[in-house]
Amino acid sequence: MSAATFSARLIGWQSSHGRHDLPWQVSDPYRVWLSEIMLQQTQVATVIPYYQRFLDRFPTIADLAAATQDDVLAHWSGLGYYSRARNLHAAAQMVMARFGGQFPHLPAEIAELPGIGRSTAAAIAAFSFNTQSAILDGNVKRVLTRWAGIAGFPGEKAIENKLWLLAESLLPTNVTDMPAYTQAQMDLGATVCTPKKPACLACPLSDDCIAKATGRQLELPTAKPKKAVPERSTVMLLIHDDAGRVLLERRPPTGIWGGLWSLPETGSTLDAENACRERFGLRVELEPALADFTHVFTHFRLTITPQPAVITGPCNALRDDELRWFSYPEALAAGIPTPLRKLLNR
Ligand code: ADE
Repeated sequence: MSAATFSARLIGWQSSHGRHDLPWQVSDPYRVWLSEIMLQQTQVATVIPYYQRFLDRFPTIADLAAATQDDVLAHWSGLGYYSRARNLHAAAQMVMARFGGQFPHLPAEIAELPGIGRSTAAAIAAFSFNTQSAILDGNVKRVLTRWAGIAGFPGEKAIENKLWLLAESLLPTNVTDMPAYTQAQMDLGATVCTPKKPACLACPLSDDCIAKATGRQLELPTAKPKKAVPERSTVMLLIHDDAGRVLLERRPPTGIWGGLWSLPETGSTLDAENACRERFGLRVELEPALADFTHVFTHFRLTITPQPAVITGPCNALRDDELRWFSYPEALAAGIPTPLRKLLNR
């Protein structure tokens, strides 16, 4: 064990190597809260201009609470994950209604506000009020699982509980150290104890880090167990007319690729000819199917067989808002799904 405690080493490291000039390093809970929400899925450099513009427009919680949702969303536009903005707005209204406009001090109360989880509540309280409450975001989970050699996926309840207990046991005793200590954990995880290339030589925790001692830096934290991804398949009809245009069909408004123009699909290459006749009144000649390719969605993997065909008979008028011939440049300029874009570009 190193002579200095875990927290003392982090705080010492923070004073010389951590980030000190971030615009939200203030003790105003509104500013700290806003920054923590913006930083949840977005990098510091991206956040800074949005953060400034947002505060110029909504300088206080009361201003934010009184704004329309459209106005709030407009000032979030470009940052993505818009539920963060809707929750922020709802939480500001709750602070006005339930806490008389005073941002609550207790982490448990802060965590009751929409969009604020246990770790974010602790970070806001530590930065704004020096509260001794532990954070446990993705960066801290990585630092702690490596330092203490804790195997098992941290998203699993049992492992997460263990990490919370560990995080609470490591807090500094001097409350005025809480902001530096909290920032240190975030900064160490972001700049030194990184997922793929941890810089152990620069780490204040390396002397007694279990992962370092056992060469398991890249095995910890344990990755999420992989679920088998369901497989689906489809045949995409690449029907061309005499002018070399391709037939696109608008997809139903809901479901994958809702509302986008895409190739007509059938379940099998065997019923491709029939499908063209029955669904579009087109006589076609099939060409050999092209090589399959796959597209991975969050919940399944789709194998696509492109089935080319050329029309051999007359082409009756098409329902122009649902089914239309597109030249390749027109198709590429339209809203089409990514795998179709790849296919047409081949
Ligand atoms: N990411 C989340 N919170 C942060 C903070 N306070 N500073 C830098 N990056 C962060």
